[in-house]
Amino acid sequence: MVNKGTIADLNNDVKAIKTVGELREVIHTLKEKLGLDMSVGLVPTMGALHAGHQSLILEASKECDIVVVSDFVNPIQFGPNEDYENYPRQLKKDIQAVQQVTDRAIVFAPEVKEMYFDNESTRIVPKDLTNVLCGSRRPGHFEGVCTVVGKLFNIVRPDKAFFGMKDAQQVAVIKRMVRDLNFPVEIVPCPIIRDKKGLALSSRNSYLTPVEKNAALVLSRSLSESLGDPIENAESLQDSNTDPEATEIDQYNDDENSVLTLDNLGNIKQRICDIINSEPMAKIDYVEVVDFETLAEPNSKTKEVLIALAVFVGEEIKSAKEQQSAENEIDWGSIKKTRLIDNVLVELPD
Ligand code: PAJ
Repeated sequence: MVNKGTIADLNNDVKAIKTVGELREVIHTLKEKLGLDMSVGLVPTMGALHAGHQSLILEASKECDIVVVSDFVNPIQFGPNEDYENYPRQLKKDIQAVQQVTDRAIVFAPEVKEMYFDNESTRIVPKDLTNVLCGSRRPGHFEGVCTVVGKLFNIVRPDKAFFGMKDAQQVAVIKRMVRDLNFPVEIVPCPIIRDKKGLALSSRNSYLTPVEKNAALVLSRSLSESLGDPIENAESLQDSNTDPEATEIDQYNDDENSVLTLDNLGNIKQRICDIINSEPMAKIDYVEVVDFETLAEPNSKTKEVLIALAVFVGEEIKSAKEQQSAENEIDWGSIKKTRLIDNVLVELPD
């Protein structure tokens, strides 16, 4: 590790870097001044930073000499009817959130035209892992994610890149991309950060009204009640300067907590669906149980099972359900709602 103070001095007027050229220059200058063996950690984000993002930045600052936090709402990973336009943008607050965690970070916040040429025509298209879970519901999403993350890897050339298990499929897809395309970077998955009640932190939680936020607890509750209750045993993130309300839940891979075997996966999935369906403001998009490496159905070779869910939450869902009748099909597309995801990773006993 290089001397922390020196980087802070070079980088004391923390403002966001806007261009690829400037970012490369800053990293180059830091390396020239502080040593070519200085390690670089990358934390890719779309901004609207919360304690979940901050936990990645903290981990990156522990493992790397300098941290690049990208803050870019990536248009090409949003579908036509998704929330690209409304996605929260708050760069000033984001810079403060980064500074709360470390004085060794550079924030890279390019404009869209800096990242995508008008006639850009090259994309990274993942195949096998994207026909399930969010990939099957959001066509083109992971092509957008892989393309922007691949570009960031080439721009920043990090030694390590930090991703949250909140987006478990994203971790699996990026790991595969790194392997397939020989990107010289180590992917570091980091645990899901939740609020005190168990709700996984997400930039999209800001769309929820207080009653919807309460209803959204059904996601984590469905997982904890079906699998034992590690959320009860949540430990505070004591060594960070981040949100004191935020907690890191043990992944459900402790043998004592794990009640999962290959034979009872179906029952557990059914229990999760029943719990979510009992919440009037919730509508299931998917509940899936897959092998974390292949994202296919678990089998005797499966080591870790990913139980993942996506659920729409909204007050209007409740009223639509109440008005539903045999003749009157609900037009879900026209209903105001927020799509939330959550998951747990469980080690299967040998
Ligand atoms: P974004 O949703 O901003 O998330 C940035 C990173 O923060 C991701 O790795 C995500 O998994 C992680 N994260 C979000 N909420 C978290 C939580 N509650 N606990 C732990 N980690 C959490 O994911 C993206 O942006 C984009 O797809 C991106 C990779 C930046 C590409 O555009």
